[in-house]
Amino acid sequence: MKLLVAPSILSANFANLEKDIEMINQSQADWIHVDVMDGHFVPNISFGMPICETVSNIARKPLDVHLMITHPERYLEAFRNAGAQHITVHYEACTHLHRTLTHIKELGCKAGVALNPHTPVQVLEDILTEADIVLLMSVNPGFGGQKFIPQTYHKISKLKQLIAASRTQTLIEIDGGVSTSNAGSLLAAGADVLVAGSFVFSSSNPTQTISDLKNTVVQ
Ligand code: DX5
Ligand code: ZN
Repeated sequence: MKLLVAPSILSANFANLEKDIEMINQSQADWIHVDVMDGHFVPNISFGMPICETVSNIARKPLDVHLMITHPERYLEAFRNAGAQHITVHYEACTHLHRTLTHIKELGCKAGVALNPHTPVQVLEDILTEADIVLLMSVNPGFGGQKFIPQTYHKISKLKQLIAASRTQTLIEIDGGVSTSNAGSLLAAGADVLVAGSFVFSSSNPTQTISDLKNTVVQ
């Protein structure tokens, strides 16, 4: 199976967001990854609903919204209304994760749960049947352009086993420090979706870079 590719607009040019969204529209990208940061759950602030809605008005690919915020349950409806098709919340930010994932699906969105690098995948064992996506952070959340954490490979393999045991179709999404130098190994370990921000937008030909990620073969 081919990887799904989700360019992160965190590294896009906000002075000309339309150009970068059009580039993604015309590329082989599958989803558009939208990173929302609140300066509380993570030590950085990015943007919120208005930017998400602006992107949604131009986008022709599903918006994959990654909420790096505390109390994400308060904002689910707002992000659905701002055009999110997938809403991913952090395990570490949810006291009632089952309720939150259920609510996301009731809103008509795909439900995702994200894990920080230090959080073991085993904590998801009893909730996997409710999750359409598990996002493994392969850097500490908060910033683009950080170095990939190699322990992620091991987490992917363990998560793959848990998903098989749960008989679900949950997708494994990898976020942080992704490039063509680790994409083949991530695919081999069992990744389904790769998020890439700085690697795409700092390249001289982002459309080609997306295509290169999309056409990753097992290494
Ligand atoms: C980091 C964000 C990522 C970020 C990835 O907290 O969740 O989605 O945009 O950026 P790169 O690909 O540059 O590591
Ligand atoms: Zn992200």
